Amino acid sequence: MKRADSNNSGSDPALDGLFEAIDHVELGTRSEAIGRVTQVADGLAHVSGLGSARLGELLAFENGARAFVLNLEVDSIQAVLLDSVEGVEAGASVRRLHELASVPVGEGLLGRMIDPLGRVLDEGDPVEAAAHEPVERPAPAIIDRDFVSEPVETGILVIDALFAIGRGQRELIIGERATGKTAIAVDTIINQKDTDIVCVYVAIGQRASAVRRAVDAIREKGAADRCIFVVAPATAEPGLRWLAPFAGMTIAEYFRDRGQHALIVLDDLTKHATTHRELSLLARQPPGREAYPGDIFYLHARLLERAAKLSPEKGGGSLTALPIAEIEAGNLSAYIPTNLISISDGQIVLSNQLFAANQRPAVDVGMSVSRVGGKAQLDALKSVAGRVRLDYAQYLELRVFSRFGGFGDETLKRRIAHGERIGALLAQRRFSPLRPVDQIALLAALDAGALDHVPLEAIDAVKDALPAIIDSAPDLAAFRDKPGDMDDATRAALVECVRQAAASAGRVAN
Ligand SMILES: Nc1ncnc2c1ncn2[C@@H]1O[C@H](COP(=O)(O)OP(=O)(O)OP(=O)(O)O)[C@@H](O)[C@H]1O
Ligand SMILES: [Mg+2]
Repeated sequence: MKRADSNNSGSDPALDGLFEAIDHVELGTRSEAIGRVTQVADGLAHVSGLGSARLGELLAFENGARAFVLNLEVDSIQAVLLDSVEGVEAGASVRRLHELASVPVGEGLLGRMIDPLGRVLDEGDPVEAAAHEPVERPAPAIIDRDFVSEPVETGILVIDALFAIGRGQRELIIGERATGKTAIAVDTIINQKDTDIVCVYVAIGQRASAVRRAVDAIREKGAADRCIFVVAPATAEPGLRWLAPFAGMTIAEYFRDRGQHALIVLDDLTKHATTHRELSLLARQPPGREAYPGDIFYLHARLLERAAKLSPEKGGGSLTALPIAEIEAGNLSAYIPTNLISISDGQIVLSNQLFAANQRPAVDVGMSVSRVGGKAQLDALKSVAGRVRLDYAQYLELRVFSRFGGFGDETLKRRIAHGERIGALLAQRRFSPLRPVDQIALLAALDAGALDHVPLEAIDAVKDALPAIIDSAPDLAAFRDKPGDMDDATRAALVECVRQAAASAGRVAN
């Protein structure tokens, strides 16, 4: 359309604006496929008439509610609702939005709590996104990956010393209900407060109170500025719960792909599997083992494969994943746990019995493993941690027999006393992380027998007193800041610090 005299001076500015707007109106015909809801139940809608829709694409219902395409069938598609099902009824019209389900990504998300579509859940303003990225993205190619070589420090002695986690690794945290799974993940996030690792905590199907507790702990300890919370609690639509881990991965990948380092906690994938089963059964997918659909392995494999250490050519960034899984009655060989164990690079197994016996974190040293983290572990830590696992395992066996009594043998008694000290060292209260140098000192002292006469109840006090003593030792300053090779003198100095800590704990026996 042409307009007359529009550039003439003196024309009415309001009219100009109108012409301007008209200029941008696209005239012509437009065709749009409109589908119809044929069935809707429990967050899943069957839609006919949208044959060209793609997997993962967003759809909009006539009341504005959104859904994403989960399955394509010959004459209908199945879409999972991302908003309340209220107002979406059979017969309602549906249209394609021609975009994939996506999330905002970027530095602007740090410290924020969002849902898996990026909608704000905290009190703040809308998030400032650098971009929007689809929640499903391909995993890095093999050629673009590098070996895991740098550690993620959890600050938890039993993990850093015995089951070290490397940047880019996928380490499963698995255990029964209320055995401290979330606690380990949250303490690890808090320990990244002063590192270059950005954390993403994804809550899937959790009770709102549990989410609150985790988020509050991270905020209180001042680690929230380096953390992004992606939350789809138990009360969220099934579609949001399904999307949550994928959305979290996309958010974390933003940092990985820029040469930075990220850590994602998926709390927990058992609930994600249950959501997937619920949706698949509603979609009448054929149920397989334990009624899970056949693609559950692929679902979690493609999710966790996105965690990786990238090659220097790709910027050298990393994305470490800590998926969490819940088991029932100690059954590690149920379907989902075995799947997840085989997909990840190791597992931290938490034991009900240990938790009940007050050994916390209740890590089952015999069942846990880290398949790649050892290569990333500090040499000094590796050298002092070498024998701990075996000694502890032997002690646990001995302890069972010693219950029968009659063990007068001095060597056995000493071994049991040593094992008890390992147990006490590996136990750690919450929110009391140990730096690598503290860990090395404690294990070196254990090895040197410097803890053998410290009463078990005093071990925590030794741990508390130790950091200040190490900090005040001038010849240890370099090693403290960068624990590299440990010579004999350094080792002796570290052991001496632990002796002093034991003395200042004031309770050295005899
Ligand atoms: N190292 C620890 N020292 C003392 N208490 C701990 C420790 N770790 C966990 N707890 C306590 O144990 C309880 C259960 O922990 P948490 O909620 O982390 O377990 P969970 O396995 O994630 O539970 P759920 O199955 O409900 O998700 C919490 O009250 C927590 O504070
Ligand atoms: Mg938990």
